[in-house]
Amino acid sequence: MSPSTTAPQAPAFVMPVDLPKPPGLTWRVQSREPVGYDVNIVRGLLDPANPALARACGADGQHPTRCLVVVDDKVQALYGERVRAYLEAWHVESFWKVLPGDEEAKELESAVEVTEAMTAMGLLRRTEKIVAIGGGVVLDVAGFAASLYRRGVPYVRVPTTLLGQIDAGIGVKTGVNHGTHKNRLGTYYAPETALIDPEFLTTVDPRHIVNGLAEIIKMALVKDAALFELLEATVAGTGPQSLAAGGPVATEVISRAIAGMLDELEPNLWEQVLERSVDYGHTFSPSLELRADPPLLHGEAVAVDMAICVALAHRRGLLSAEDADRALRLMHTAGLPLAHPVFTAELLEEALRDAVKHRDGRQRMPLTEGIGQVRFVNDLTREELAGALEFVQVRAAALGGREDAELLAVAS
Ligand SMILES: NC(=O)c1ccc[n+]([C@@H]2O[C@H](COP(=O)([O-])OP(=O)(O)OC[C@H]3O[C@@H](n4cnc5c(N)ncnc54)[C@H](O)[C@@H]3O)[C@@H](O)[C@H]2O)c1
Repeated sequence: MSPSTTAPQAPAFVMPVDLPKPPGLTWRVQSREPVGYDVNIVRGLLDPANPALARACGADGQHPTRCLVVVDDKVQALYGERVRAYLEAWHVESFWKVLPGDEEAKELESAVEVTEAMTAMGLLRRTEKIVAIGGGVVLDVAGFAASLYRRGVPYVRVPTTLLGQIDAGIGVKTGVNHGTHKNRLGTYYAPETALIDPEFLTTVDPRHIVNGLAEIIKMALVKDAALFELLEATVAGTGPQSLAAGGPVATEVISRAIAGMLDELEPNLWEQVLERSVDYGHTFSPSLELRADPPLLHGEAVAVDMAICVALAHRRGLLSAEDADRALRLMHTAGLPLAHPVFTAELLEEALRDAVKHRDGRQRMPLTEGIGQVRFVNDLTREELAGALEFVQVRAAALGGREDAELLAVAS
């Protein structure tokens, strides 16, 4: 543009006369909080020669250090002495808060008790750590308490169940159940580090291994077709319990599941984007999990939800009959339920309504598009839900699972 010699014109903007002025002065505050934490698979975590846990506690073996160990009761009984001996070897003075595992204990009161333990030991706000050791329940409760206490104190996660090691222990979500709602009260609060020792799995009850396997199947279905094939071979071959026994296949399965999960979580840690493939199997299950009597484990409820999703995808032409069959068969062979009497068409509808609230007004429902990828849909109808339920019930009965057949008999 060539320079002009004429006087500059007045700006075109004219203050609208009819708009009220803001009632005072306005400031806008903007800030970002960088989040970084490590997830490490560390074998021999409780071997005093291994510095990983001590470092996570801020200990160097020379200077006295303190920490609060929040530990699952079963883990305390099985590994408590080794944890104590390890910490003593590293000159860590430890204070202990033992919490029951299992879903019933995942309540606000447990988190408050953990904060009281922090007060009782006089936890220093920045340098002394909470070390949470246990399954998903204890990790969620301890993480929630850590996020509340003085608005946040550092914590370390040591997941000891399969579900904890590939899911609950590696993200940033914390929480407790409230009413009949799963994780209704919770926070996003990253640990400083997560230390995963697969050796803990050797003492995990077989049903809880299968429970964790459900979340691994989820990751395979939504993002990792190779993992799906590996699971098919493992479950049909050495069986699900081989995942607890260590060895190269178990390591491959667990590390692929962790990598897939972190890959999905990292770009969306605070769930700004509500289309989340890791929500697969988590649309209907939250409404089911706490209502089933006897209770269903988290992964079992997720499996029942995934079976519905497989049917929905198949009936929409997104998943071939063969792949739908493979998915249902894998879950069934693993020992997971495909159906449950509490899961009626009405409950599915109600659960979907609640999920829509959770997903800010839209269904944002991940469905598999072939095995290993997802697409999100927003137009599921009540007829589709009923049709999917019927499809699963027929397939479950055909697969002949005694438990499923019994459940279906109750349902019909
Ligand atoms: N925060 C998240 O991102 C996230 C993700 C997935 C699941 N979760 C939550 O995780 C919870 C389920 O976790 P879970 O399946 O680990 O259940 P859990 O914590 O109840 O543990 C299962 C059982 O195993 C016992 N246990 C733990 N470690 C053991 C060991 N090494 N040996 C023997 N027994 C052991 C526990 O005492 C309990 O009885 C649910 O509440 C779910 O909502 C959270």
